[in-house]
Amino acid sequence: MSSSPKNLKERLQYYGTPGKDFPRFDVNSPLPKELEPTLRYEAHLGLRALPTALNVLTFFNWLFSRVGRFRTMTGPNLQQWMPANLSRLRPDKFSDEYFVERRLNGFNPGKLNRVEGKEWQYAINYQTGRYKAEPGGILPIYSEARFVLRDRALYVHSIEYCWKNQTIVCYPTDGEKWEKAKYYFRSAEYVFQEIQSHLGRTHMNMDQYAMAFYRNVDKNPIYELLYSHFEGLLSIDKRGASLIIGNSGFLTTASALDMSSVDGILIEEIEVLSYRWSPAKQVLPDPIDNNYFDRAALAMWELLEKYVGEFFTNNQEAIQTHWPEIEAMSEDLVKHSILKSEYGTLEIKNLEDLKTLCVYLIYHCTFFHSWVNNKQYEDGGDVEYTAIGLWDKDSPYYDAKKVEERHNSQVKLMWTLASVHYNPAIEFAPLPLKKLLWEYRDRIEPGIPLGWIMMSINI
Ligand SMILES: [Fe+2]
Repeated sequence: MSSSPKNLKERLQYYGTPGKDFPRFDVNSPLPKELEPTLRYEAHLGLRALPTALNVLTFFNWLFSRVGRFRTMTGPNLQQWMPANLSRLRPDKFSDEYFVERRLNGFNPGKLNRVEGKEWQYAINYQTGRYKAEPGGILPIYSEARFVLRDRALYVHSIEYCWKNQTIVCYPTDGEKWEKAKYYFRSAEYVFQEIQSHLGRTHMNMDQYAMAFYRNVDKNPIYELLYSHFEGLLSIDKRGASLIIGNSGFLTTASALDMSSVDGILIEEIEVLSYRWSPAKQVLPDPIDNNYFDRAALAMWELLEKYVGEFFTNNQEAIQTHWPEIEAMSEDLVKHSILKSEYGTLEIKNLEDLKTLCVYLIYHCTFFHSWVNNKQYEDGGDVEYTAIGLWDKDSPYYDAKKVEERHNSQVKLMWTLASVHYNPAIEFAPLPLKKLLWEYRDRIEPGIPLGWIMMSINI
């Protein structure tokens, strides 16, 4: 446990206008020293980052630039020389069975919706039309994959997408056309995985809670409960602002999107997210044998309710004694929130609200971020399988060298982001949480290895 940060209210400034810009730490201001990453964190990052993946690693850049053998990794061999990801280890990576499996358990889970009155029972629909693609970029207006439910299993039925004002429907018997439809779908999914699920729902959503927490909570026992789950968040969000979402960041350079599209979709995501949510609201209504995500998500939520419940029972008096800190936290949350009114408010009115909020925060900082972050290389580490940016070879804007560079930056960044495993919860969590994780491991593990669940969002 680090020493308690003091006077953070003055030293942690929000970006932009309250209630208008999505609430977050102003990355143009200095990060208070006590929130900077530990040396151990920097060492972990250094062990996993490729030379050009993170420009902050000046020492490693220097080192690699002097080791000729490593330099060839940045040349034409890069994609083949990268360590194999999950899809490269699957001879069936283009099969329809694997397609279904990854929609259930891959890096962007929880997107299937029940459909009534159709030949299919489930669908995933990505509306990409609101993104602006650069000239030559391939980005269907929408892309929908449909699935039939049979004997507790899903089977892909068809994919419909719209491209150049043409609606195209493909079926598994359509040969090359079918493979192309799946590739486009996986690419659309990748865009949403990064912007909505990863950046929006975890990094930026949690940033607003970390700000309200750091600025106001000090003596209240929930400081002890939450502090280690926010470790490294503001720091990585500050680095990520230029590395991932800025003009020269990964999303704008490796994909066919421009920066304002990325910002727009982040806002749309954050303005519907509230801590009054639980995974029970989005689980699939039918039992599906290999739906490991829902099983793990529900298990994690259940164990966190126990863990937080017990913490509140043991600390109830002190939590109430220092309630003015919670009121101040609540005020910051409400004042800066961009939550749409139909989704309620982020106000913390009572002990029950605070308990709900703590479960929600720990769930996202541990389990959900670990899922969408640590699985990035499994899916995104193989351009042949999926790419966050696609370009039309028939377009006059097509530049083969540039496309290759962009695909290289995709696999390098995915490797770094997915490989930094700093503070696994099963090693670093307080004993009561460790015990629960171990007790629930059979429900969590088919979906994600227990050792992949980290304490906080730090990469
Ligand atoms: Fe992340």
